[in-house]
Amino acid sequence: MPALPAIQEIPEMRAWSDRVRRSGKRIVMVPTMGFLHDGHLSLVRAGRQHGDCLVASIFANPTQFAPSEDFDSYPRDLERDVRLLAAEGVDLLFNPTAADMYPRGYQTYVDVEEVSRPLCGAHRPGHFRGVATVVLKLFNIVRPHVALFGLKDYQQVQVIRRMLLDLNLDVEIVACPTVREPDGVAMSSRNRYLGAAERAAAACLERALSKAQTLVRGGETRAANVRDAVVAEIRRQPLARIEYADLCDPDDLEPVSEIRGPTLLALCAWVGKARLIDNRILGVGQP
Ligand code: PAF
Repeated sequence: MPALPAIQEIPEMRAWSDRVRRSGKRIVMVPTMGFLHDGHLSLVRAGRQHGDCLVASIFANPTQFAPSEDFDSYPRDLERDVRLLAAEGVDLLFNPTAADMYPRGYQTYVDVEEVSRPLCGAHRPGHFRGVATVVLKLFNIVRPHVALFGLKDYQQVQVIRRMLLDLNLDVEIVACPTVREPDGVAMSSRNRYLGAAERAAAACLERALSKAQTLVRGGETRAANVRDAVVAEIRRQPLARIEYADLCDPDDLEPVSEIRGPTLLALCAWVGKARLIDNRILGVGQP
């Protein structure tokens, strides 16, 4: 197994980046919170095509969790993550400490206003403020030319894109498709919380997305009708509790009432202790 070079200190990371940039090489970054699965690894594999040096970061970011949320119990397994990243040929792991990322006296946050408000933002106040802040900090430290994110977290990708645009940051964002288990369940570190029956129940999210796609392909254009069908599909599964099912514009995430072109259907449901999200763009030719 090849060894995986790792840096924990911020100044050392900056110096590495400076050296690589001065040598004319392109830095590609995959930011993660660890407990890696095939979704993360697909980003790492895709990352290879976008530059010369591939950096993965692992940092469970406390500022994107509310006090009532699962920060303390969020799954972690650094040893396994290191093995997986080494096997993928990642060039460097950056795994800073929370004390270095948020030292005493820390008080600066990034608020990406409108696009953070609906969907998960409405149910997790402060979540995207924490995400935008840590992504900006990671970008300032690692200074990647390109960064890859998964589209399971669709709203996160839009928040980051908006932040880069608004703050004139020169990082290219590559958004990659959601990776699914054979039964359609989107891969997520939080799937770890699911017992066997709950894991089977979690497939109701993807079934609901497929049902919506079928309706729209059949000519349904009223968002309310699609939403009703999605909610009914999830409610058929007694172990699932729906948090939201919304249809919105895929760029600014404003709600839509008529499906006239590509439309984001975003879903969130609780299954046991796991808060699961998934989405699909309706009204385009994808399966
Ligand atoms: O998607 C994630 O894992 C996190 O939100 C991110 C982008 C690494 C920021 O902490």
